[in-house]
Amino acid sequence: MKGIEFIGKRFVVSGAGGIGAETAKLLNSLGASIILLDINEENLNNTLLSLEGTNNRAYICDFSNVDGIEQVVKLIATENGAVDGFVHCVGVGSVRPLKMSKYDFMLKVMNINFFSFVEIVRCLSIKGRYNSNGMNIVGVSALGAYLGNSTKTAYCASKGAMNAAIRCLAKELAPKNIRVNAVAPGVTDTPMARVAEDYGADSDEHKMILARQYMGVCQPLDIANTIAFLMSDMSRMITGSCVAVDGGKLSS
Ligand SMILES: NC(=O)c1ccc[n+]([C@@H]2O[C@H](COP(=O)([O-])OP(=O)(O)OC[C@H]3O[C@@H](n4cnc5c(N)ncnc54)[C@H](O)[C@@H]3O)[C@@H](O)[C@H]2O)c1
Repeated sequence: MKGIEFIGKRFVVSGAGGIGAETAKLLNSLGASIILLDINEENLNNTLLSLEGTNNRAYICDFSNVDGIEQVVKLIATENGAVDGFVHCVGVGSVRPLKMSKYDFMLKVMNINFFSFVEIVRCLSIKGRYNSNGMNIVGVSALGAYLGNSTKTAYCASKGAMNAAIRCLAKELAPKNIRVNAVAPGVTDTPMARVAEDYGADSDEHKMILARQYMGVCQPLDIANTIAFLMSDMSRMITGSCVAVDGGKLSS
């Protein structure tokens, strides 16, 4: 069996934080040039600097403004040409009780975690913006798509929406040779998880979550490895699926 290689390929990776940065580095180390999107300039610069080659690019983009995304994707297409895939790692892990979860908060989380994903897929899947042989797309979902978490209605709904959407997008885009999948990480050692720990490490719920993840906390590279597989031809018959990378949590 041949290993995975992405020489000559160009991928858009949204999110230059924990999982996004690791994914960008891995895809780049396998030969791809990377186009990064994030709101955080420091994350963008740090990740860009860690990449090899001269064809990597970074674009500042606020995913809470979904209307602005089309312009950024147009610019990416004009400046870089067709792409071979897209990984959506941007996300916010909002924790807020129901009584404070008003519509504007719910909408912001849905915009950043979900609507921006569909909008980028919509804008990239236009002829000329993706490789004429097709492309691969992976959304980073979460176990919250399957499990109930109190105070996480907005977050879990955004991930459930992503899981439902990939099944529809996979069917609709298959005639264009575009595969669409997701990964659902368990607790992964990134800034997002560390912030959650700061607020809830002592809570019974947090302890229970970690106890259920009986293989331990994931590292960003565990998630990136699965993303690389889904972005490669080794997974050529997989589409519309969400792969849990969760240290066993869903099974316990
Ligand atoms: N870390 C975990 O335990 C865990 C578990 C399950 C799922 N996830 C998912 O993995 C993905 C990546 O999370 P991470 O742990 O790497 O988090 P992270 O906080 O390290 O990275 C998230 C990135 O998203 C960017 N971002 C936030 N708001 C934005 C906006 N409005 N516009 C553009 N960019 C914005 C941040 O600047 C950051 O670089 C998220 O979708 C998250 O829901 C993480």
